[in-house]
Amino acid sequence: MKKLIDLLTEEMAKGFEQAGYDPALGKVTLSNRPDLCEYQCNGAMAAAKQYKKAPFAIAQEVADQIGESRLFSEIQVVKPGFINLKIGTAFLADYLNQMSREERLGCENIGQGQVMVIDYGGPNVAKPLHVGHLRSAIIGESIKRICRYMGYQVIGDVHLGDWGLQMGLIIEEVRERQPELVYFDESYTGDYPKEAPFTISQLEEIYPCASAKAKEDPVFAGKAHDATVKLQQGNRGYRALWDHILHVSVSDLKRNYEALDVTFDLWKKESDAQPYIPDMVEAMKKGGYAYESQGALVVDVKEETDTKEVPPCIILKSDGATLYSTTDLATLLEREKLFHPDAVLYVVDKRQEMHFTQVFRCARKTGIVRPETRLLFLGFGTMNGKDGKPFKTREGGVMRLETLIQDITGAVYRKIMENRTVEEGDARETAKVVALSAIKYGDLSNQASKDYVFDVDRFTSFEGNTGPYILYTIVRIKSIQNRYSQLEGRREPVLRGCESSCEKELQMELARASEVLEAACQEMAPHKICQYIYDLANGLNKFYHETKIIAEEDQEKQAGYMGLIGLTRTVLETCIGLLGFQAPDRM
Ligand code: ARG
Repeated sequence: MKKLIDLLTEEMAKGFEQAGYDPALGKVTLSNRPDLCEYQCNGAMAAAKQYKKAPFAIAQEVADQIGESRLFSEIQVVKPGFINLKIGTAFLADYLNQMSREERLGCENIGQGQVMVIDYGGPNVAKPLHVGHLRSAIIGESIKRICRYMGYQVIGDVHLGDWGLQMGLIIEEVRERQPELVYFDESYTGDYPKEAPFTISQLEEIYPCASAKAKEDPVFAGKAHDATVKLQQGNRGYRALWDHILHVSVSDLKRNYEALDVTFDLWKKESDAQPYIPDMVEAMKKGGYAYESQGALVVDVKEETDTKEVPPCIILKSDGATLYSTTDLATLLEREKLFHPDAVLYVVDKRQEMHFTQVFRCARKTGIVRPETRLLFLGFGTMNGKDGKPFKTREGGVMRLETLIQDITGAVYRKIMENRTVEEGDARETAKVVALSAIKYGDLSNQASKDYVFDVDRFTSFEGNTGPYILYTIVRIKSIQNRYSQLEGRREPVLRGCESSCEKELQMELARASEVLEAACQEMAPHKICQYIYDLANGLNKFYHETKIIAEEDQEKQAGYMGLIGLTRTVLETCIGLLGFQAPDRM
């Protein structure tokens, strides 16, 4: 379905053409003087130079050519030659009614036939999810939903970190605590126990303890390093222990992501890419891409136009060990083999940008991906506390995601109970739903690449640019719809030509939906959806305050209002679904 603004431009272009001017001059833009008009066309100003004629006269000729148009309720030529436009009410209503019948609210099928892998979440096994992982999960989930909505075949992969030094640290720490465990008996050849020798809470204590120890004790650090190498070389006992760590962690991670309403199609791990490494390295050497530098195997990836230094991509360390970049390259190889993706998107902390620059360039240069495959990096900024420093607990520790969610849910619960519109039992469930909107909207309403301040009071407020405010607006619509459904003699809600200015403003906001959603997809910018639904919610609430809906006696008119708020609800609900949360029935 065509964008409203494009339809207006086409109409103006016709006017220019009929008056003997270049139709390209007919470009219509949103008015920058909303007090005077809704849209404007400044083409006559440009035409004046081209055709050496007074702009006012040109504008007048164009306006005369267009004459009475269904698209415009007003075409006004003002000095020195602007054309001010107001949109026709019947045309606008028809447009919206068509939009409500279209699939995807009239958006183009941007992703048709395209496969996209989204790498997000990126938690590390055996480390509890903390706020640092929140942004990747929230932003990645939203982009996944947006792209899927726009027709892409999307594969979301959590890409678990399960292969680094943290595994060796845990293994070594477990050994110190329970040296008698069969996993450490080199001569053992039987089956290993099915039960893990630790619970998730023990595991979560083991890792930080080991990590702190390694910083102080170089002998322990060395042992942990050796254990990592042994694990990677396939030591049986270590593998069995690693399996336990993985299982215990993954079930805990799944529970956590579920609470966030974040789901992955794939639970692939760094280790899954390891089998691809030997052949990949061979091919890089054979192709003449990889060479030895100070004992390490590297591929040059700098380019002439670089303004800052891009160091070579290291493939193997001097001791033959693989690195984060090796794993990411091998993972790309695997993804190419399994899914043949048109695009691979990484939603990762922006401090890893250089790593991805190196990996992307190396993958292109060595032919791991096809030349036409798009490799995209969406780097996000840090979530800070009110003091402007990375978000911490009150005691200064790393904030666990679970705790954060609990805190916010508690704050929302108290607010709901103050309002007293929800029963206590329901309030608990409602609080969870509303809290999620507070967290996700608070994050997504900022441009991803920027740092932002996580402000619990502001995010949970039912007023202002917040998730709960959007939900409140939807709940308001639901409640009007409920009351309407109980009225006698009600009709089929069908949006009609507007009469008041607040009604028109709301309709014009609705008409922008497809434009905004498409831009959010193309620019991978969920914040654009947030901005939009905030405006839309404001439009709805203004309309609500200035219009008597349930008390309206003209039933025809009333059904028109119901059509309008019904479409507003659809658009709002679609948008929050794409952001990754939903609305309760009451709050
Ligand atoms: N596990 C990594 C971390 O915590 C993030 C992984 C991002 N994805 C990737 N393919 N490198 O930093």
